[in-house]
Amino acid sequence: MDFKALRKEYETAGFGPEDLPDNPMKAFEVWFDEATKQSPGDWFEPNAMTISTSAPSGRVSSRWVLLKGVDGEGFRLYTNYDSDKGQQIESNPNVALCFHWPYLGRQLRIEGQATRTSTDDSEKYFHSRPRGSQIGAMVSRQSQIIQSRAELEDYRDQLEKQFENQEIPLPDNWGGYLVRPDRFEFWQGRLDRLHDRIVYISDGAGQWTKARLSP
Ligand SMILES: Cc1cc2nc3c(=O)[nH]c(=O)nc-3n(C[C@H](O)[C@H](O)[C@H](O)COP(=O)(O)O)c2cc1C
Repeated sequence: MDFKALRKEYETAGFGPEDLPDNPMKAFEVWFDEATKQSPGDWFEPNAMTISTSAPSGRVSSRWVLLKGVDGEGFRLYTNYDSDKGQQIESNPNVALCFHWPYLGRQLRIEGQATRTSTDDSEKYFHSRPRGSQIGAMVSRQSQIIQSRAELEDYRDQLEKQFENQEIPLPDNWGGYLVRPDRFEFWQGRLDRLHDRIVYISDGAGQWTKARLSP
């Protein structure tokens, strides 16, 4: 594999701190809107982001999840609370989210603390999902070792019969996390690796400081 041949110049127009709103949630809205409207096709999910979490030992894990809600409080995602990520968040709520919108030459990093959303919020989102996904959430003991795929499919078939013509109940171990942000970094790729990086840091009392970082 020739990694030297994998080189891309970022010829996008740049920006400075003055070009972004003072409130990073507003800046997020602008960038997310552009990422969604200019998405290259159905195969790309502009709401896909990585979430990094850490174990008590200090070991760190990242994986993709889907952003399923954003409001004045923060960013919502849904998962299995007993999964590796769920257990890690319970022991250390500090998490990092990262979006990459390659067609815009943009990366967006968000750091903050995750807390479980209310059961009401999880119920609403759970029941908005296709029935197959609801059953899938009930079937999966996410992140556990299993013997075979057949084990999953047999359990799915059993649950489909069990809940025929009934609502699928929200599993106790499934629901949302709300990530309340305290740091954002908006990154725009520029020529010669002289990228624009604008950081927002919270003072913890609702005020944000905005600054430019060296690329
Ligand atoms: C594009 C994409 C989106 C995903 N979205 C979710 C999601 O919203 N929730 C989720 O639990 N897993 C999602 N996954 C699966 C996770 O990446 C991961 O495999 C799973 O959550 C188990 O992670 P864990 O063992 O670290 O807890 C997604 C995977 C991909 C590739």
